[in-house]
Amino acid sequence: MSNSGAVSKHSYKNLNVVESREDKIIYLSVNRPDKLNALNHDVLKELKDFFLAARESILDSGMRGVIFFGEGPKAFIAGADIAQLATLPPESAYEMSKTGQEVTLLMEEFPLPIIATVHGFALGGGCEMAMGADFIYATEDAIFGQPEVKLGLIPGFGGSQRLAKLIGRGRARELMYTGANLSAKEALAYGLVTKLFKNKEEMMAGAKMVISMMAKNSRQAIAEAKKVMNLGNDLTVKDGLKIEVSSFSKLFQTEEMKEGTNAFMQKRKANF
Ligand code: COA
Repeated sequence: MSNSGAVSKHSYKNLNVVESREDKIIYLSVNRPDKLNALNHDVLKELKDFFLAARESILDSGMRGVIFFGEGPKAFIAGADIAQLATLPPESAYEMSKTGQEVTLLMEEFPLPIIATVHGFALGGGCEMAMGADFIYATEDAIFGQPEVKLGLIPGFGGSQRLAKLIGRGRARELMYTGANLSAKEALAYGLVTKLFKNKEEMMAGAKMVISMMAKNSRQAIAEAKKVMNLGNDLTVKDGLKIEVSSFSKLFQTEEMKEGTNAFMQKRKANF
């Protein structure tokens, strides 16, 4: 991964965070490749800390999107750390699940788009982290699944709620009850994945390109679109429309809306 243009490199033990001013992208990766990036409590805590800190500083940073991926050749994230789960007392299990859920919520509420770029395994907590992103790109070798029942468990980082919303009730139940793997092609057909790529390099280029397309548009409008779609997820269309009308009208107070509409009238490109 090219580090050129990086404005800062935070120090986390299990994460790599590279802010590229040149790309206007934050490259976020889990860096435990020898354990296929399995999520132990420390990794979850660091992800939570990262999203909390970034949320505060992001609006002035000029960044326009996050690409979330896994280090090493084999996995995005192969799930929660089973070695840690095996000895976890129930009260700590509650905390672990809460922290994982908080991370996925922070991702959903993050004011910039997040693209999960998945290669190799995205099992259990890995699939759940990917579902916290705005959308998922994957390589042809990617494997998704919620195999928790094989361990006597259920998904604990939001998967029991989000998967059915993304791929439908029957498919989600089939996957969760069997613990079966879902190939990248099936994940694409199910709508879990938005686009497939031959390899990680092409996928990263694709994610970079889509964020560069977004960066030509109003950041505030994209953040508002994300917010409204997320809030509407739990509502009837009628209640969702109330949120839409309020966000739509709120944007009329922004400089970006003035710039976008003026640029059109003046037959020039908008400068956001
Ligand atoms: N938790 C903890 N460690 C994990 C892990 C997990 N979820 N997934 C992989 N690892 C570790 C392995 O224990 C192994 O460590 P070791 O070298 O110290 O023995 C290392 O990562 C490499 O994994 P390995 O199993 O040797 O790779 P593989 O290519 O043979 O198999 C998987 C890959 C993904 C099929 C297999 O690792 C697996 O089934 N992992 C668990 C997946 C899962 O159930 N996730 C949901 C958890 S809720």
